[in-house]
Amino acid sequence: MEDGNSLVIREFGTDDIDQLVEIENQAFPKTPYTRESLLGYARAVGEGFVVLEKGKDILGYIIFDAEGHVYSTAVKEKHRRKGLGALLFTYASKHSRGKLWLEVRSKNSTAISFYKSMGMKTVGRIGNYYGTDDALIMALKNSAPR
Ligand SMILES: CC(C)(COP(=O)(O)OP(=O)(O)OC[C@H]1O[C@@H](n2cnc3c(N)ncnc32)[C@H](O)[C@@H]1OP(=O)(O)O)[C@@H](O)C(=O)NCCC(=O)NCCS
Repeated sequence: MEDGNSLVIREFGTDDIDQLVEIENQAFPKTPYTRESLLGYARAVGEGFVVLEKGKDILGYIIFDAEGHVYSTAVKEKHRRKGLGALLFTYASKHSRGKLWLEVRSKNSTAISFYKSMGMKTVGRIGNYYGTDDALIMALKNSAPR
């Protein structure tokens, strides 16, 4: 029986937006997605925007499309290194049949270590994609960017 304390992964709903904005601002203080862009992603990817919830608290999210392009993922700071990012990533991987790829800032060593631990490899690099920072393109085996 659901006791309100188990972890649930479910599709994002518009009522979640305030918690999502909070997680986003904490995870990406210099370049957070705005409320409007998060809602735009929800319209664009539908069931590819999922949240990880415990009781009424959203602890993290991942956004990916039907072709396996991951747009963003984050876990609340105080809940990191507990395997929650891996749960979200594994969910996305299953739903895209093992095909996932993404761009990540070359200076985001935490995210790069995380993605490597998920089995991703660096398959490309785009100079100054983020202004003064390059993007690494990382992909799961057999995944290819469009
Ligand atoms: C990247 C992020 C989502 C990972 O979430 P998480 O819940 O902490 O990740 P997990 O606990 O599932 O970690 C799985 C593995 O990833 C690696 N990893 C995760 N965080 C790491 C860190 N800070 N340093 C080195 N390796 C790390 C480890 O191998 C870890 O396994 P371990 O804890 O058994 O050693 C989280 O750090 C985050 O929200 N960062 C800010 C937002 C961000 O940069 N998102 C990615 C943008 S592209």
